[in-house]
Amino acid sequence: MALNVLVTGGAGYIGSHTARQLVTAGHRVVVLDNFYSGHRWAVPNSASLIEGDVANGELVKRLLRDHKTQAVIHFAGHIVVPESVENPQKYYLNNTAGSLSLMQACMEMGVDKFIFSSSAAVYGTPEVLPAREDAPTAPINPYGWSKLMTEWMLRDLATSRKLDSARSDGQGGFRYVALRYFNVAGASIDGSLGQATPEATHLIKVACEAACGKRDGVTVFGDDYDTADGTCIRDYIHVEDLARAHLAALDYLTADGKSEILNCGYGHGFSVSEVLNQVRQISGVDFAVTMGSRRAGDPPALTADVTRIHEVLDWTPQHQDLAVICRTAHAWEKEGMSKRSETTAPSAHWLSSLLVI
Ligand code: UFG
Repeated sequence: MALNVLVTGGAGYIGSHTARQLVTAGHRVVVLDNFYSGHRWAVPNSASLIEGDVANGELVKRLLRDHKTQAVIHFAGHIVVPESVENPQKYYLNNTAGSLSLMQACMEMGVDKFIFSSSAAVYGTPEVLPAREDAPTAPINPYGWSKLMTEWMLRDLATSRKLDSARSDGQGGFRYVALRYFNVAGASIDGSLGQATPEATHLIKVACEAACGKRDGVTVFGDDYDTADGTCIRDYIHVEDLARAHLAALDYLTADGKSEILNCGYGHGFSVSEVLNQVRQISGVDFAVTMGSRRAGDPPALTADVTRIHEVLDWTPQHQDLAVICRTAHAWEKEGMSKRSETTAPSAHWLSSLLVI
């Protein structure tokens, strides 16, 4: 069923991949983005693009009303963990208070389906791996807390609105799916979309920049962890598979699915050294790798138990292969991103934003 969907942060890395898949699936998409880290060129032409902030309640309510919005997918948020330690209020204001403001607008305008970008950062350093959704949540930085608090608010709103619901079967009312992302990486298979965040810190992006000569090399943050090769292990998921999980979550909520929190990864991990070797092999560039000291707040290993997401959603990953993740990330870094950045001509989006605001 085609829906009217508001995508906050739809000009960003994961949001733009999801907006594209939503449009392709026939949904009518409105993107709300303040361009803190997003790009106009990343938004599909057939989506309406509105420049603005999720915390602007009046704007959001107008959008929800004017576009007869039926579901919200909420990506907009800050994502840099060390920055959240230095400037926690920035994260609580934008990620937590901004999300609350958006939820409030949904309540007032009767939008009952909400999909939220949560993070594996809510687990902190899990004692048992792979981590299940019911593992204790114990974030180790304000970024993780800002996401966890948003999950709590969603839970409580969904509980209160279920009580309000007139439906005798206990279904209906405000419902949400919070997707706890593990390590998102890669770029679109067709090479036209990818991560364009300046001063990125994520491993695969950094390694691809090094392979393309955009930085001198890569420093490994610690090789004395209790893992097979001493470097940290993460569960890397291709961005297009992650985007597809949002569409599956939308179908699930549309079919009256109840609120859920779901891990979004592949269920197995690779070490930092394995990732760097893969990028070296794919690029054919033997970029410099330096062993450095541990980075504060890094858990030695973080992998997802993905039993629940496969039980609940109709979601089949299509790019479950570190080589595909690294190959697409490298192609984007080498070719795709520069082509996109050169696109400066105003697009149809400008017109749609003038019409709506
Ligand atoms: N790493 C390096 N060198 C680099 C960059 C990263 O050795 O230049 C290592 C890190 O120390 C870590 C691994 O590569 O062991 C992955 O690091 P990333 O920065 O790519 O990703 P994180 O695992 O730190 O972050 C991810 C998500 C966050 C989330 C976090 C939860 O991107 O949003 O997992 O732990 F909060």
